[in-house]
Amino acid sequence: MKGLVLSGGKGTRLRPITHTGAKQLVPIANKPVLFYGLEALVEAGIEEIGIVVGDTGEEIRRAVGDGSQFGARVEYISQLQPLGLAHAVQTARSFLEGSPFVMYLGDNFITGGIHSVVEEFRRDSPDVLILLKQMPDPERFGVAELEQGRVVRLEEKPVKPRSDLVLVGVYCFQPSIFEAVDSISPSARGELEITDAIQWQIDRGRRVTSHLVEGRWIDTGKMDDLLECNRVVLDMLEERREGTVSADSKLLGKVILEEGSEVVHSTIRGPVIVGAHTRVVDSFVGPFTALYHHVLVEGSEIEHSIVLEHTVIRGASKIEDSLIGRDVVIEKSDTRPRAHKLMLGDHSRVSLA
Ligand code: G1P
Repeated sequence: MKGLVLSGGKGTRLRPITHTGAKQLVPIANKPVLFYGLEALVEAGIEEIGIVVGDTGEEIRRAVGDGSQFGARVEYISQLQPLGLAHAVQTARSFLEGSPFVMYLGDNFITGGIHSVVEEFRRDSPDVLILLKQMPDPERFGVAELEQGRVVRLEEKPVKPRSDLVLVGVYCFQPSIFEAVDSISPSARGELEITDAIQWQIDRGRRVTSHLVEGRWIDTGKMDDLLECNRVVLDMLEERREGTVSADSKLLGKVILEEGSEVVHSTIRGPVIVGAHTRVVDSFVGPFTALYHHVLVEGSEIEHSIVLEHTVIRGASKIEDSLIGRDVVIEKSDTRPRAHKLMLGDHSRVSLA
């Protein structure tokens, strides 16, 4: 069985972060979200993995390499235009070579892995096995309708959802999916939808089964969901202390200090992760914060936030619920007039207190 990880797309809902980087590489508790998916595949015994990439392909290649860091063999497949998930399957045809496969959307996060799902698929060999999860806002996703446990209908982002069971971004397919992806037409949003390809198979009496995800599932395409995912993972991590802490600092709860990090005259209330060579000086870092590597937080307070690499935060009183990109500088200024002085990239969002 092979793995197909989709890591293209424009990530418009995560701008401006995605102007300069792939959404699948945004760190969750200091690890790119994509890596959790790759690990889940390998743990389920799938080591031959194709990653479909688009505009951000170079960055993905640099981060994942040949896959050996995950115990996998990774090949890259270029999708020249993001024309939909079913189009990505078509693009990967020669890599998949008639093998059954698990398709995993690179910005999806699931707790508990996919081992049992893959086992079920191997054992029962349905044409398609989909993963479902009950969600309060099904209209944002593909929605499934079941009758006596059988999948009878799927609809992509319906205005009036017929159920609250949504399609999780992990699918198990037999090679029979190719006939389906070749037969459907683009949807209203101009994409070849995998949802339509599965429905095409249902309509022809093929066996489409489902598996209800018990743990947490988060599609990290939006900032709130990223912060939520960060919260979930920070809660699960084991404490590690590979950095240094000054005697006058206070670490409360679970605090992970990565290699070469430094906490000076500060209070950290976990769960918090402080990345490699990141310094926290004269500051308070509150629960559910992930500071990536080479960050400086000085004379500031920050909580429930994700900060990317090489960013400096100096003299900021209470930053909360924030996603801050790479090489950003936030600092207090004493010059007159006292005003907010901003230089923000396109599609930035600022909430002033
Ligand atoms: C895609 C699928 C949708 C599924 C979702 C899961 O949506 O089309 O059916 O529920 O992934 O993340 P998209 O992210 O392309 O809007």
